[in-house]
Amino acid sequence: MIFDEYTIKSLVRPVPDFPKAGVTFRDITPLYRSPKAMRMVADSLIQRYVESPVTHIGAIDARGFLLGAVIAYELNKPLILFRKVGKLPGDTLKDTYATEYSKAELEIQSDSFAGGEQVLLLDDLIATGGTFLAAARLVKQLGASVYEAAAIIDLPDLGGSRKMQDADIPTYSLCAFA
Ligand code: PRP
Ligand code: ADE
Repeated sequence: MIFDEYTIKSLVRPVPDFPKAGVTFRDITPLYRSPKAMRMVADSLIQRYVESPVTHIGAIDARGFLLGAVIAYELNKPLILFRKVGKLPGDTLKDTYATEYSKAELEIQSDSFAGGEQVLLLDDLIATGGTFLAAARLVKQLGASVYEAAAIIDLPDLGGSRKMQDADIPTYSLCAFA
């Protein structure tokens, strides 16, 4: 299915002052409710990575899980979960980070990578980049590399994608709200 940016953007609802005053929340639930639009999103990402050297999909808690599972299934790659702290059993690594409206801690199981893997990080949206930067640090600590960090939406005015590129993390988004 051909990617239509207008359709995708029309299914992202701006919600003023959520979850805090001053934040325009970009609500992707209308997009997730549209099988046609989700197929466009998934097909575009699959096409981008099907011939790539990506070995693992890293999906970010929680909205990134929905995308990560679909892409891992289609690319037939292992799915690694980057979870909010306290949800993963066993030995873990943690990293604290801030987003546009929260402070949180991201956690990964220490045996997720053996070293040398090429990880595609997936999430719904890039705002300040805090979440992806924390995930990338965890990948690196376990001896793997971020092949690319990809999202459906970028909010470039919040500077996250720039910060990620400055940190040498290849960054990709399907559309942007500037
Ligand atoms: C949102 C979004 C990204 C992150 C982006 O997640 O899904 O993970 O914020 O913001 P950043 O670029 O400033 O880090 P949120 O923490 O709201 O959690 P959720 O997926 O559980 O809703
Ligand atoms: N995560 C961080 N900032 C966000 C925003 N403005 N809309 C949706 N999710 C977000």
